Amino acid sequence: MGTLKSFSHRKTENYKMGFKLNITLLFVLLLWASDAEAQAAVFDVTKYGARPDGMTDISQALLTAWKAACNSTTASTILIPTGTYMLGPVKLEGLCKAPLKLQVQGTVKAPADPAKFKGFDGWLTINRLNQFTMSGGGIFDAQGEVAWKQNDCAKTGKCNSLPTSFRFNFISNSIITDITSLDSKLFHVNVIGCNNLTFQHVNVTAPDESLNTDGIHIGRSNGVYIIDSLIGTGDDCVSLGDGSKQVKVSNVTCGPGHGMSVGSLGRYPKEDDVVGFSVINCTFTNTDNGVRIKTWPASYAGVASDLHFENLIMNNVGNPILIDQEYCPYNQCTKSKPSQVKLSKVSFKNIRGTCKTPLAVKLACSSGFPCQGVEIGDINLTYNGKGTVKAEVSNVKPKVTGKMIPALP
Ligand SMILES: *[C@@H]1O[C@H](CO)[C@@H](O)[C@H](O)[C@H]1NC(C)=O
Ligand SMILES: *[C@@H]1O[C@H](CO)[C@@H](O)[C@H](O)[C@H]1NC(C)=O
Ligand SMILES: *[C@@H]1O[C@H](CO)[C@@H](O)[C@H](O)[C@H]1NC(C)=O
Ligand SMILES: *[C@@H]1O[C@H](CO)[C@@H](O)[C@H](O)[C@H]1NC(C)=O
Ligand SMILES: *[C@@H]1O[C@H](CO)[C@@H](O)[C@H](O)[C@H]1NC(C)=O
Ligand SMILES: *[C@@H]1O[C@H](CO)[C@@H](O)[C@H](O)[C@H]1NC(C)=O
Repeated sequence: MGTLKSFSHRKTENYKMGFKLNITLLFVLLLWASDAEAQAAVFDVTKYGARPDGMTDISQALLTAWKAACNSTTASTILIPTGTYMLGPVKLEGLCKAPLKLQVQGTVKAPADPAKFKGFDGWLTINRLNQFTMSGGGIFDAQGEVAWKQNDCAKTGKCNSLPTSFRFNFISNSIITDITSLDSKLFHVNVIGCNNLTFQHVNVTAPDESLNTDGIHIGRSNGVYIIDSLIGTGDDCVSLGDGSKQVKVSNVTCGPGHGMSVGSLGRYPKEDDVVGFSVINCTFTNTDNGVRIKTWPASYAGVASDLHFENLIMNNVGNPILIDQEYCPYNQCTKSKPSQVKLSKVSFKNIRGTCKTPLAVKLACSSGFPCQGVEIGDINLTYNGKGTVKAEVSNVKPKVTGKMIPALP
């Protein structure tokens, strides 16, 4: 009895232990499985045929890796590892099934010859994504020098023949961080139809004399944030086209280039309003302008309001503070009729430093639609040349909120 009891007891114990072991094993297996699921799958372009030899076009490898990652039902990463790659124009399409990260550790070069971009208006065109991240410290070098020499935008008024380096179209809740854009052929970055898109620690670089290499141009988007970045290029540092809403720029260093601008606005019919733009804690060095709002005369109707410029340092800047409602480059318009773009709620506060022209402040508003609700104060700008700084003001009665050097007339 005793033996039997102990036997059956032992048997039960064994059975229990086996059960426990199985449960533990199952648990471990489950943990492992869920861990594998939580860890984003990595789609390395070199596993799809990309070679880091700086010569072989990796566009097919990138497109295949992108397709596979985009089809993943869990978060995934497309990796371009360290090394130098050649990449032709690509369109990276969403929507994707889960958050996607493009991690670029290498240097990616575009063909220098613009003819290789026939039929493409962008180098990397990225369409329709939600929760996208681009990061990794990589460099995108568009090798724009050949293109700049061929650029005839000024003569023809069209720049369509050259590709923009990055086109972000309809991207939401996404972040571009630790990426360098070098020597774009035309604009570095164009943002259209985006919602809640952040650029942080981006480095945008092209020489002063490169034509139309705007840093980041934004249009028809809501919530674009540019922070902790460096933008030195041959055209506007950041520019806002029609329909830009809630764009915030802070801790950005601009220069060389043309500074930050709203517009040009009013050139085309039915432009969407520009509402909510703040530029805070930024430095401008050797730029042609600091902060500028430009609208065309004899223009179509438009609205730009809630534009705020604060805590800015100007180092040898052409026109640090500028509202120009008679913007008419290359005489492509007539100045006989005033601009119909209404500017309101504009402030310039705590802007200091030096300028390379004596005209430190110019507020030239439309005679047809004088600017409303303009505030300016705590301005201290000195001229680097001989003579004194001055301010010009027309069709606006700004409220002065602090000390003014130069004083308003
Ligand atoms: C997408 O993934 C599904 C399974 O999740 C698979 O059946 C299908 O073949 C994949 N499509 C592509 C283009 O990879
Ligand atoms: C904006 O996008 C970021 C990055 O994806 C996200 O963390 C944040 O929650 C989004 N904000 C809103 C208001 O959706
Ligand atoms: C920005 O990129 C340029 C070109 O690659 C480089 O020379 C410069 O050092 C970079 N600046 C920073 C702060 O990373
Ligand atoms: C401003 O941006 C620079 C460059 O990214 C960064 O090193 C610095 O920490 C930022 N400053 C603040 C106050 O965040
Ligand atoms: C600007 O800088 C000040 C002082 O460093 C800081 O308190 C403030 O948060 C900054 N503002 C933005 C929008 O970064
Ligand atoms: C304006 O700036 C100049 C040069 O930096 C400085 O010498 C002067 O004290 C400043 N004036 C005021 C009122 O802050």
